[in-house]
Amino acid sequence: MTRVLQISDTHLSQTKPHFAANWAPLRDWVLRQRADLIIHTGDLTVDGADHEDDMREGAELMRSLPGAFLAVPGNHDVGDAGNPHQPVNAERLDRWRRHFGPDWWSRDLPDWRLIWLDSMLFGSGRDEEARQFEWLRQTLAAAGGRRIAWFTHRPLFIESPDEGDTGYWSVKPAVRSKLLDLIRRHDVALVGTGHLHKWRDHVAAGCHYVWCASSGFLVGPDNQPDMPGEKRLGAVIYEFHGSDVSITPADVPGLTTLWIDDVLHEVYPPRHAA
Ligand SMILES: [Fe+2]
Ligand SMILES: [Fe+2]
Repeated sequence: MTRVLQISDTHLSQTKPHFAANWAPLRDWVLRQRADLIIHTGDLTVDGADHEDDMREGAELMRSLPGAFLAVPGNHDVGDAGNPHQPVNAERLDRWRRHFGPDWWSRDLPDWRLIWLDSMLFGSGRDEEARQFEWLRQTLAAAGGRRIAWFTHRPLFIESPDEGDTGYWSVKPAVRSKLLDLIRRHDVALVGTGHLHKWRDHVAAGCHYVWCASSGFLVGPDNQPDMPGEKRLGAVIYEFHGSDVSITPADVPGLTTLWIDDVLHEVYPPRHAA
């Protein structure tokens, strides 16, 4: 059995320590879990996209956790395709890679292939977007009968795989349809994401679409439209046994329920989305 923790959306920063109090309870919880692997699905920092210090401090905190971890970047870590203020670009991606290593990667368990994807490249038109996609196709084709689990920051869809553009909240339809086509043609059983600061385990066409709760803060109705899922803080525990996986939402004792809405003007002044 392989025990994997997913944590997400910690939004860490020493200069904007609004959510820093929730790091110690998360770290203590991780310590007790004795996991084989810890996956962080992005928005690790408040603003690593523009601040080297946020990225360096976030990486130091992650390295202080017991055991191996892998992280994929979120929009607040490397910017976002099409964002006029913080476009994903070479400087931002380089900063992430210097602190956290490659932004797409795979690792095999006996019966599973775990794949990390950089969803901030989706729709960017960068050469790396095409390279990541080609790598993904080859990595799926060469899975050798293993089942597949993906981890990335932005969810592929909110309500339904064939919905239209949801803007900030999910992957754009053109890229989404290419990814869903790969999911259909390979044994992709799990897609674990962050970004929404909500918990959900939704099954569509046999694949679990898991939204990992943030351990940092919740987003109120003024800054996030009504959508499925549960507004709670926490994490997710996966146990891979043979070709099965159990998926369990985890409470993290000691987290304080913080709301971004109360401090949005300080943490992400108006030029930023939520
Ligand atoms: Fe976030
Ligand atoms: Fe995000």
